[in-house]
Amino acid sequence: MKKISWAVMGVFVAGGAFAAPPDWSKVTERKIKLFYPGQASLEWVMNKADHSAVPDIVDKKRTCAKCHEGDANEIGDKIVAGKPVGSSKSVLEPKPPAGKVGWIPVIFKAAHDGEKIYFRFEWVPPKISKVHADKLNEVKLTMLFDGGSTVEGAELNGCWATCHTDLRSMKDAKDDKKTKYVKGADLASGKFYDLMQYRSGKGEKPVDGYVADQRVMEGGKGLVNATGVKEGNKWVVTFERTLAGGGKGDHAITPDKIYNFGFAIHEDYTEARNHYVSLGYQFGLDKTVEGVKSHYNVTKR
Ligand code: HEC
Repeated sequence: MKKISWAVMGVFVAGGAFAAPPDWSKVTERKIKLFYPGQASLEWVMNKADHSAVPDIVDKKRTCAKCHEGDANEIGDKIVAGKPVGSSKSVLEPKPPAGKVGWIPVIFKAAHDGEKIYFRFEWVPPKISKVHADKLNEVKLTMLFDGGSTVEGAELNGCWATCHTDLRSMKDAKDDKKTKYVKGADLASGKFYDLMQYRSGKGEKPVDGYVADQRVMEGGKGLVNATGVKEGNKWVVTFERTLAGGGKGDHAITPDKIYNFGFAIHEDYTEARNHYVSLGYQFGLDKTVEGVKSHYNVTKR
């Protein structure tokens, strides 16, 4: 009896509205390849001498996903092994981590109920090493999204606009504390990414922050919950977030917009750039966008 009433209370949100997590088995899945990017910064991918695709990106507005959904796994495999890539034959991982795989297939799902949006990520963890850069967290899953093309280039590159060559552990790092930022960021006009993070460590809390002229790991009010469960052989991480947001660095999610997003998984107690990242994707509420493979329609449940 006690158990039941607790469960019932748990699904009532402030105001009394009924808000149960969606029946995930009914939600469309999208397979997304997360790959190891090494030091492939925004500056590298947008430099024509390194990456011959720059004119297609700039002039033809080709998305990263359009060209690389298919070969993201091969890109990750090459970079993690320290092999030369790009037209400049750059080595984007100067210290190849032994035994690390180049990519992870992730099953992505999202749904909303008119009040909240739910994201779900599922993957099977690769082999675990004994090196623990992050002592607390075996896994961190971070999602970034803009306010509906409020960050320049985000509709093509997801969250590459935050990934710079002068960040800690990147090629031109000068400051080992420097984390993600958006050039010319502006909170007032929405030129920033909302950030949500799940951390698996004992006692760790969900992070609701943002990336503007610097990365801030607090201030948001939208993230209701971020949970992770290791079910047998796989990880399942879910985010539950109000559509309204309402805190500092929260984008309101409204049906009239299309949001650009990307996400990353720090597997195996890793830190900084030693993560797996997605290319750029888009989501909208109850919106089908014909012919855009990187668009995910978040339907109402
Ligand atoms: C028009 C197609 C196209 C687009 C769009 C594109 N790329 Fe590429 N990318 C290529 C090609 C072709 C290569 C192979 C090397 C070269 O020609 O520079 C490449 C190479 C790379 C590499 C090195 C791996 C390798 O195998 O050489 C990375 C990393 C990469 N791209 C990331 C990105 C990112 C991130 C974006 C979005 C900002 C992007 N690419 C957009 C076509 C594209």
